[in-house]
Amino acid sequence: MISIAMYNNKGGVGKTTSVINVSQQLALKGKTVLVVDLDGQANSSRFFTDSPKPGLAQALVKDMVAPEIAKCSTRYPNIDIITATSELNTIIPEFGALDEEVQYKRVEKIFSFSEKPWYGGRKYDYMLIDMPPALNALTKTILSTSDYVFVPIELGLFSIQGIPTVTDIISRCGTKFGGCFANRFDKDNPSDVQLLDMLRSNLGKKAMDSVIPYSRVIKNSINFSVSAAEYMNWTSASDSFKKLTDEILERVGE
Ligand SMILES: Nc1ncnc2c1ncn2[C@@H]1O[C@H](COP(=O)(O)OP(=O)(O)OP(=O)(O)O)[C@@H](O)[C@H]1O
Ligand SMILES: [Mg+2]
Repeated sequence: MISIAMYNNKGGVGKTTSVINVSQQLALKGKTVLVVDLDGQANSSRFFTDSPKPGLAQALVKDMVAPEIAKCSTRYPNIDIITATSELNTIIPEFGALDEEVQYKRVEKIFSFSEKPWYGGRKYDYMLIDMPPALNALTKTILSTSDYVFVPIELGLFSIQGIPTVTDIISRCGTKFGGCFANRFDKDNPSDVQLLDMLRSNLGKKAMDSVIPYSRVIKNSINFSVSAAEYMNWTSASDSFKKLTDEILERVGE
């Protein structure tokens, strides 16, 4: 199982949108995926299921609570999700007050989820983590435990200027930085084209070839609770998530 966190400490850049669309693309390839919604906003939970289950927050602060209780199946046979509730926002101080070693143990429970023989026997090929835009003890521990971190960014001077902060966070966590990709790219806007060049010269190989365009297909599909490929699979927006998924697989060595 390979665990991948979608993270940027900036909000609204496309972490959830990417987790949703990449998971669905992986499922189309026949891979099994466990999505973990770590964000108290519970956006990906609401996308994947009508009845999110509580339990993840308590599993993070209590030894005897297993994250499995928050696992839900989805209408995609190959995708399950551990759902978030707003309680995740309130346990951060309690989690932060735990010894670092205990914090890792609690987070490990989530990552070892698919290895437990007594849990229904399902092994997942990938774990995709929808991260909140926060930097705290919980997000740091999750990033440190993940195999790879991928960073969606929205092109803008402030975002580009903020990249060293994100890469610094990732390197402090000791996790592999899989790559950074531009989201909401407008190819007809010379400023976006210039900023994409800037991103590539700043990040070198860590800047991904994949670019997700600004697209109503992407925005509307989420509002209809379907992926871009399910909504309009002939569009470049849908194709961009296919390419992103292929590039992620390449970068994680699959
Ligand atoms: N490429 C795109 N084209 C058009 N709309 C997009 C695109 N990517 C994301 N959006 C829209 O932008 C909004 C924010 O995206 P999303 O929720 O994925 O960001 P996020 O990084 O998860 O935000 P947060 O930090 O709050 O968790 C959503 O309404 C989403 O539908
Ligand atoms: Mg989100």
